[in-house]
Amino acid sequence: MGKASRDKRDIYYRKAKEEGWRARSAFKLLQIDEEFNIFEGVKRVVDLCAAPGSWSQVLSRKLYLPAKLSPDSREGDLPLIVAIDLQPMAPIEGVIQVQGDITNARTAEVVIRHFDGCKADLVVCDGAPDVTGLHDMDEFVQSQLILAVSIQFFIYELVFCLRQLLQYVILDGSYFCNK
Ligand SMILES: C[S@@+](CC[C@H](N)C(=O)[O-])C[C@H]1O[C@@H](n2cnc3c(N)ncnc32)[C@H](O)[C@@H]1O
Repeated sequence: MGKASRDKRDIYYRKAKEEGWRARSAFKLLQIDEEFNIFEGVKRVVDLCAAPGSWSQVLSRKLYLPAKLSPDSREGDLPLIVAIDLQPMAPIEGVIQVQGDITNARTAEVVIRHFDGCKADLVVCDGAPDVTGLHDMDEFVQSQLILAVSIQFFIYELVFCLRQLLQYVILDGSYFCNK
């Protein structure tokens, strides 16, 4: 069976077309939210490996648009969604796009600048490198991608905690000396 006819028989492929999602993977994120309620209270979110953008669409529809349409919405209070991918993607309302490599520290710095020094409430990642068809190799490259990005987040979390600690222990005008 060809790929096109297989796709047409896939219920999620058809449903994604009907509901205007860019990819059927939108349903993965919707189902995760149904099970674990991950969007509750979320104001700042990062979508890693976002192209073509169905997860970002979910974030926009679930977080940004309801807040924007709410009668008491205020511009500065709207959820901030930052999406990153190596590939460019078509615009999505309420989503800031960053084209870059998620394993690169400079990409993390761009995201942090968008959040104005605040931490994200939620990070979602659907990253997948190009597959070679060699399962062992593909699995290894996939796990390296997740490992690389986890280390990045661990380092930034550590730096954030250290900053908080310094703010707590140092009074205005004091000095901190380290060697
Ligand atoms: C399965 S797709 C993501 C689908 C997306 N979640 C959606 O719902 O539309 C995997 C994406 O991972 C991206 N990717 C792979 N390695 C990356 C990296 N190092 N940095 C940024 N994006 C990466 C690819 O460009 C690809 O767009």
